[in-house]
This record gives sequence, C-alpha cells and structure tokens, in this order.
Amino acid sequence: MKTPIVPFADITRQHEMIQTELEAAVLGVMRRGDYIMGQAVQDFEADFANACGVAHGVGVACGTDAIALGLQACGIGQGDEVILPANTFIATLIGVLRSGATPILVDCEASTGLIDLAAAERSITPSTRAIVPVHLYGQMVSPTLLINLAATYDLLIFEDAAQAHLAEREGYRAGSIGLGAAFSFYPSKNLGAMGDGGMFVTRDEGVARQMRTLRNYGAPKKYLHTEIGTNSRLDTMQAAILQVKLPHLSRWNQERNALATHYQQALKPLIRQGISPMQNHVGSGHVYHLYIIRVVQSGEANFTCNLDRDTLLAHLEANGIQVGIHYPLPCHLQPGFQFLGYRQGDFPVAEKLATEILSLPIFPGMTRLQVEQVVSVLTDAIVQPVERLIPA
Ligand SMILES: Cc1ncc(COP(=O)(O)O)c(C=O)c1O
Repeated sequence: MKTPIVPFADITRQHEMIQTELEAAVLGVMRRGDYIMGQAVQDFEADFANACGVAHGVGVACGTDAIALGLQACGIGQGDEVILPANTFIATLIGVLRSGATPILVDCEASTGLIDLAAAERSITPSTRAIVPVHLYGQMVSPTLLINLAATYDLLIFEDAAQAHLAEREGYRAGSIGLGAAFSFYPSKNLGAMGDGGMFVTRDEGVARQMRTLRNYGAPKKYLHTEIGTNSRLDTMQAAILQVKLPHLSRWNQERNALATHYQQALKPLIRQGISPMQNHVGSGHVYHLYIIRVVQSGEANFTCNLDRDTLLAHLEANGIQVGIHYPLPCHLQPGFQFLGYRQGDFPVAEKLATEILSLPIFPGMTRLQVEQVVSVLTDAIVQPVERLIPA
C-alpha cells in the first residue's frame, strides 16, 4: 500500500496542538515521583466523573477491567444473567465473563448497530440481573427506553461507554444512566491516553468504594485484604496526560461531528448506489468515535451496491485511504467463545452487518478536503467496472 493520503486516525495531530502542556504534565509526574496512585489520578478521576455527570470515578488499567471489576463492584457475579449485544468489541463479553456472570447475547438494530432492546426484552429470564448497553461508535442507546426496561424487570444498567466519552442522548450523558459505566482510554479513543487506561464511574458511594478495593488487591486499607482483588490502577503518567486532554474533548467531539455531517452530505449521491451511512438518531449527541457506512448487499434495502464490502475496502486501501471494520466477526462466532453454545444464524442482523460495514477515517484534525478525497475514491470505485479497480 502507498503512504496513506488519508490515515484512518492520526493521534499525533491532536497532541501537536497541546504539546507544551503534555510535556509539562509528564515532566511533573517524573519530578514528583508519585508514579502509583499519584495526585493526577485523583484529580482526573474527579474531573472525568464530573464531566460524565456522576459523583465518583475510579481509574483502572483499561476499559476491559472497568467492565469486569465494575460489574463485580455493582454486585454482579455467578448465577446472574447479563444481557449484552453480539455486535460489540469482544472486551464487553470478556468483561461480563470475568465478573463471573452468564452472558446472554442479543442481536442489534440494522440502522444503528446498537443493541436491539426488543430482543433484549425477549431474553429476560428470572435470573437476569443486568443489561450492558454498548454506546457503539459513539452513539448512546436510548436512555429512556433502557430506564423503562430496567424499571419494568428490576434490572441494573451497566453502560459500556468505551466509545462514547461525553456522548449525549435524551438529556442524559454517557455514564450517567446506570449504576455503573466503563470507559476506555485506549490511545485512539475520543479521549485517549498514551498507553492503556480505563475508568469506572458511578453515582453510588458504596459501589465506588468497592471498586477502589477491587482494583487494589482487594484491600480497603493497606495490608488488609477483604477479598481477591487485583492490581488494576490507572497509571499516574496516563492520568496526567488525560487531565491535560480532557478540557479539549468537547471541541474534538464537535470536530468529529462536523466531519460526520460533511460525510453525510458528500455521501448522499451514493445512497442510490447502496452506500448507506449508519443512522444518527435525531437530536442525539453522537460523538462519532467511528464513522460507519454499510455497503449494502441484497436484502431488505431499496438500493444495493454493485461491489461487495471487501472489494471496496481493497480499492480504498490501494488508493491511499485507510479504513477499518468494526467488527468483522460478531462475538458469538469468535472461535474462543464457542463454549457459550451460540451458532451461525443466531443473530442474523449482527452477522449481516459484519459483512457490510466499513469504518471511514474520522479524527480531530482531519480536513473537509480529506473527507472529500475519501468520498471521491469511493465514488470512483462504485462507478467503475470491477476489473479496473485494484491496480496490478
Ligand atoms: C466497546 C468497547 N468495550 C470495551 C473496550 C475495552 O477497552 P480497553 O481496550 O481499554 O480494555 C473497548 C476498546 O477497546 C471497546 O471499544
């Protein structure tokens, strides 16, 4: 592949804008020497929780730990059924399994890729204790529908908000709907560290206390171990970096939103060619962690594309446009998870989406011209005969 004309994401662009502040923050930690659970961790926990509209934040080593330990802190464990979508990153499923609970997968909506709440309702049994909505791609699952469902069946809501920092919908902010929520600070996330990092947020003081115990060898105080916890702390250096980046997050999210609007406009002529952008709910504060289009193949849709997704992907890559697939194989079909007993055909919408979705470049610092370049290469591919697509 040539040097990309448009990279999938370019984190260095973000950092260039705040380079001096970042360097001062890192140097500050180096000089203070409070490498484990230092001041920056406490400061960032408070500021991030506040940004989510909840009282408590507990920093952990990564988003997966925030799910696994967070569910445990919320009292979820063995014998409890937990509903989650099949269309998510595998970490959601790993987190549920690590909590000791039994995962119950459900299908997703074709238009958004988000969990299908009607399917979730049909999966509820007397053992169901919690639902884990994943605010996938940066768009929240409807808080009002979730709250109604949870109230009707006495379920706990635990949000996987790893892709949805500061997302909003129906007056709620991601992380503030349920008893607990998990965030990831993987470098390419909307708020990313320079390494791994994660955060659990909750409005409940007792749950927060339990989470602090779990992340620190099960110790509510030094050398007193009340349970088998683990070592999963947010690194002080990463917290200091995240603390510098947090005040810029709203602006970066707005940039992503503006780019998405530009894509939406530019892609309009391709809708008749079977290119269908994922739906953005009206009025939702989508933060576009990812910008997803569907390369629609035969089925329910009015328009179908003359190319399949993989051919289009190869054409884009060969012409300098880096793209991704989030995700190519749904959780229930992953080889390491066959023991759960799911089969091909169990979640037809998620399975079909996995063959049609394509993630286009989107990142703060990306230009409108780059959006147009992406759309132009896409257009080129769709209007040309297949044989001429990929240069020899
Ligand atoms: C939806 C979702 N859940 C959980 C995670 C896990 O986060 P981490 O990679 O920080 O463990 C991620 C990101 O990687 C994610 O995208």
